Amino acid sequence: MDRTFLMIKPDGVQRGLIGELVARFEKKGLKLVAAKFMKITPELAEQHYGEHKGKPFYEPLVDFITSGPVFAMVWEGDNAIALTRAMIGKTNAVEAAPGTIRSDYAVHTNFNLIHGSDSPENAAREIQIFFSEHELIDYEHSI
Ligand code: CMP
Repeated sequence: MDRTFLMIKPDGVQRGLIGELVARFEKKGLKLVAAKFMKITPELAEQHYGEHKGKPFYEPLVDFITSGPVFAMVWEGDNAIALTRAMIGKTNAVEAAPGTIRSDYAVHTNFNLIHGSDSPENAAREIQIFFSEHELIDYEHSI
């Protein structure tokens, strides 16, 4: 059983896509464990995207991710990390397979709507950055 961190970015919030994107993961049968509507501080952005520091897109990425509210979530399920990555699609919308979120809704790599953890290590790290233990809700989920 995996847990993954997903975050609808400021462009997804601005475009009114929170409900539509959350519905995809609900309909897939994944279990929502935590959710938070929040603004990211520059410090939190640095913690979350630290691995990209020094890359040419890092500064614009931090500016963008702190520009407006995001919808941060934790989802659980068998292969939740791989499944949600597949549902989200490739970082570059041009390369994202038809039917994926980024193919269906995104045009530009910098405004690609949603972030999903890419490994168990990053999922654990990102969940811990954004949520405290008591915010991860334990409940029965039948699917
Ligand atoms: P995300 O999955 O949130 O992880 C890093 C983000 O950096 C990525 O989505 C993109 O929004 C942004 N980004 C911009 N340019 C690039 C690039 N060339 N390669 C990877 N990520 C990029």
